[in-house]
Amino acid sequence: MSTAVSLQALRYRWPGSSRPTVAVDDLSLPQGESLFVQGPSGSGKSTLLNLLAGVLVPTEGEVQMLEQPISQWSGRRRDRFRADHLGYIFQQFNLLPYLTVLANVELPARLSTRRHEQTLAQQNSLTAAAEHWLRRLQLPESLWRAPVSRLSVGQQQRVAAARALMGSPELIIADEPTSALDEDNVENFMQVLTEQCRSIGASLIFVSHDRRLAQWFDHQLVLTAHTEEADA
Ligand SMILES: Nc1ncnc2c1ncn2[C@@H]1O[C@H](COP(=O)(O)OP(=O)(O)O)[C@@H](O)[C@H]1O
Ligand SMILES: [Mg+2]
Repeated sequence: MSTAVSLQALRYRWPGSSRPTVAVDDLSLPQGESLFVQGPSGSGKSTLLNLLAGVLVPTEGEVQMLEQPISQWSGRRRDRFRADHLGYIFQQFNLLPYLTVLANVELPARLSTRRHEQTLAQQNSLTAAAEHWLRRLQLPESLWRAPVSRLSVGQQQRVAAARALMGSPELIIADEPTSALDEDNVENFMQVLTEQCRSIGASLIFVSHDRRLAQWFDHQLVLTAHTEEADA
């Protein structure tokens, strides 16, 4: 079985910090499985996701994504690999507000030849594929041609998830995507997201401070907050 992400003896220290923000000795996620990363605010969840995604490079240790030694690569090569293989759902969604919903969802397939080809292997056009994902994420069709700035937070989050799934990347990473949602919306979003990741065989790494969400995942990693003072 192949491995989605793995890391050994990982340490990450922000410049100027006396101790590592992230310290994980061993982690390995089999391809197609899901991992929940739980921890309070400031425990290094977002920093860890950026390390796993190859946005940051570890201070010590190594990260492999899809069995590739990404932490040894140049920034440019990591950027390209990420565009080809990773769907990222940001806490603030990072949608382009002036573009329509459909244009936002189509974007990953325009930025990566690989995801473009994978999209067209399944659907007749990028727009047809974007519509497919928006339907799966249960976003009302009346909103598909509106600029995303008109959408509610919950609706924007569904657009961000549809965008991450576009072109069927092997790995989906989500950074606290449910933190702005009410309880009913959280339940429904978790259901739809985990189901759609399974439908394309994608691994899912999902971060939240809300430990109740652990039930949706195969594996769990708990981070604890350290403060410089506690360390002294
Ligand atoms: N860009 C940065 N520069 C310096 N320190 C940072 C930066 N981003 C985060 N940190 C520090 O790293 C720690 C963990 O932050 P973060 O990974 O955002 O935690 P979480 O996502 O769990 O809330 C915090 O103490 C924060 O101050
Ligand atoms: Mg965070």
